[in-house]
Amino acid sequence: MKVCVIGTGYVGLVVGTCLAEMGNDVICIDNNEAKLNDLKRGIVPIYEPGLDELIKVNVSENRLFFSSDLKTAVEKSEICFIAVGTPQGEDGSADLKYVYQVAESIGESINGYKVIVDKSTVPV
Ligand SMILES: NC(=O)c1ccc[n+]([C@@H]2O[C@H](COP(=O)([O-])OP(=O)(O)OC[C@H]3O[C@@H](n4cnc5c(N)ncnc54)[C@H](O)[C@@H]3O)[C@@H](O)[C@H]2O)c1
Repeated sequence: MKVCVIGTGYVGLVVGTCLAEMGNDVICIDNNEAKLNDLKRGIVPIYEPGLDELIKVNVSENRLFFSSDLKTAVEKSEICFIAVGTPQGEDGSADLKYVYQVAESIGESINGYKVIVDKSTVPV
C-alpha cells in the first residue's frame, strides 16, 4: 500500500521504516529540514536496534522516502499516519497544536478517500 507518516521522530521513523520493510511504499514527512537531510544521507537521529540497516535497505530499494512535501505525500497515499510530537504542558496535559496543524494540512491536501491514523498521544 502507499502510506505516509507525518512526523519522523521516535515513533514516525520506526513506524515508517517497519511498514516499508513489510513491502509498503512509505513517505516519511517532517518539517525539520536538517533531520530530513541527515536521513537522506543515511544519518539516523535516534538509536533503535537494527533501524539504521532497515532504513538503508528500504531507501535503496525505493520503498522509503523522506520529504517535507506533505501535500504530495497525502495525495499519493491511501493511509496517512500522524506521529508528530505532543509536548507535555505544566499541568501534564498534551499540547495538541502540532496534531491540529497536521490535521488541517491533510484536510487542505486530501484528494480522495484516505484512512487517517493518529499515533500521537491525544486525550480520549
Ligand atoms: N516515543 C515513544 O515511545 C512514544 C510512544 C507512544 C506514543 N508516543 C507519542 O507519539 C507522538 C510522537 O512522539 P515522538 O517521540 O516520535 O516525538 P518526536 O519529537 O521524536 O517526533 C515528532 C516529529 O514531528 C515533527 N513535526 C512536528 N510538527 C510537524 C509538522 N507540522 N509537520 C511535520 N512534522 C512535524 C518534528 O520535527 C519531529 O521530528 C507523541 O504524541 C508521543 O506522545 C510516543
